[in-house]
Amino acid sequence: MNVCEDKTEQAALLAQFEQADAAYLKQFAAAYALVKARLQTPRLLHSLGVAQTAARLAEAFGGDVPKAYLAGLCHDIAKELPREEQLALVMRSKLAADEGVLAHKVLWHAPAGSVLLADLAAAHPELDEAVQSACLWHTLGKPAMTRLEEIVFVADLIEPGRDFPDLPAIRRAAAQSLAEGVAACMYGAIHFLEVGGKYIHPLAYEGYDYYKNKLSESK
Ligand SMILES: [Fe+2]
Ligand SMILES: [Fe+2]
Repeated sequence: MNVCEDKTEQAALLAQFEQADAAYLKQFAAAYALVKARLQTPRLLHSLGVAQTAARLAEAFGGDVPKAYLAGLCHDIAKELPREEQLALVMRSKLAADEGVLAHKVLWHAPAGSVLLADLAAAHPELDEAVQSACLWHTLGKPAMTRLEEIVFVADLIEPGRDFPDLPAIRRAAAQSLAEGVAACMYGAIHFLEVGGKYIHPLAYEGYDYYKNKLSESK
């Protein structure tokens, strides 16, 4: 996330998103309010960037466009919750027994978000299992993701607010196909973490191997 610290500029960017995506934000007004109430403006701008990018990817590669927008909008919903609240949600998630996740706080917000969305789905049925699952896997990725999971995984990394050295190459790959985009994002993430000497979850390697093989089989 690389959003300018200037509050006036942030407000201008937010107004731009709200104008450009007025139709989606009207359709998903309740979900947008839930996200907006939980995120500061820089991360809200990132979420809108991911939503917009996810909708474009769905359009390009045959996904459910409004659902992609919604899932992108909601993917970081738990990221600014206090750590102890995130952990309590993780403990109710599908990754509750995953030692690699439990030991690395940076990985909590995705499973935490999936459970928070499941809780909110009681009153907001549009936050269904597909949206919850896209949130669950948006950070780690894994082999054989659903199309919506792939879309949000890629959109999170290539949205317009991002800026890092490998990004142009990853964006070019993502313009080819979803599998190319996922493989490029996974490779980029692994490379970034390896260079920084940071923890890499086994699913990151498994996911990359799966998508690399899928691409070589299709060539
Ligand atoms: Fe995230
Ligand atoms: Fe994100």
